[in-house]
Amino acid sequence: MKLKDKVAVITGGGSGLGRAIAVRFADEGARVVIAELNEASGEETVRLVQDRGVEAFAVPTDVSDPAAVARLFAALDDRGWPVDICVNNAGNAGQLTPVFEMTDEQWDSIVSVHLSGTFYCTREAIRRMLPRGSGAIINMGSVAGLKGLPGGASYTAAKGAIISLTKGVAQEVAAHGIRVNCIAPGWVETPILENIPDQMRPMMVQMTPLGRIGRPEEIAAAAVFLASEESSFVIGQTISPNGGLYT
Ligand SMILES: NC(=O)c1ccc[n+]([C@@H]2O[C@H](COP(=O)([O-])OP(=O)(O)OC[C@H]3O[C@@H](n4cnc5c(N)ncnc54)[C@H](O)[C@@H]3O)[C@@H](O)[C@H]2O)c1
Repeated sequence: MKLKDKVAVITGGGSGLGRAIAVRFADEGARVVIAELNEASGEETVRLVQDRGVEAFAVPTDVSDPAAVARLFAALDDRGWPVDICVNNAGNAGQLTPVFEMTDEQWDSIVSVHLSGTFYCTREAIRRMLPRGSGAIINMGSVAGLKGLPGGASYTAAKGAIISLTKGVAQEVAAHGIRVNCIAPGWVETPILENIPDQMRPMMVQMTPLGRIGRPEEIAAAAVFLASEESSFVIGQTISPNGGLYT
């Protein structure tokens, strides 16, 4: 087991990639905390994780709210659980909108969850990792942040900024034993794709040299690598499991 007894906070752990990461981390022996906007789906993931024989609990959290994020980490403190791993995964795709029609609200709703949410959770996690001199932070970027997604200006900007945030914070805390890295998936089969118009689907497959959409487990495998000692010399990197969509 690669994560035996480690404590992992996973934001957006009630669905898609977050749930797959939670289940895989449990199989690697980690204790799991699910920080999720959707209370019912967060609890469902907790049950899936507990069925695998590890401890877990959920804290209903909106990661775009710094006070809610502070309460999330305080819940770990109250239980005496350290923070070994923090996966900043929560997100939504919003609607594809031409940049000249994008409203302030559309912009803010994406940037506040993805970018600000990643910052708030990173800050709280690092405050707890520093005194222990160890920790791993995994941010969820996207191929959109590497190559751009037409119609997704706010999403592209937020994901690109997460990749840059990863580099800066990684260099800042590396000497304290904390590793910060990023995963930038290509298209992966999760509920987030429901926002993508059906007619785009064949194009998504066609754009991917492997000829298919990814599976959440394929992203969870990258997360295990970045969370574990297997990646002990990996700092500030973005790994992009994307089937060749962007090389
Ligand atoms: N699926 C893909 O193709 C793909 C590709 C690249 C990147 N990503 C990124 O992966 C991450 C996970 O996406 P997914 O595909 O699993 O989508 P998903 O919709 O299945 O899961 C996202 C989860 O985040 C939660 N969430 C949304 N806003 C939140 C908030 N403010 N606070 C807490 N939780 C919140 C949702 O309730 C949901 O459970 C996102 O950051 C997404 O941008 C996904």
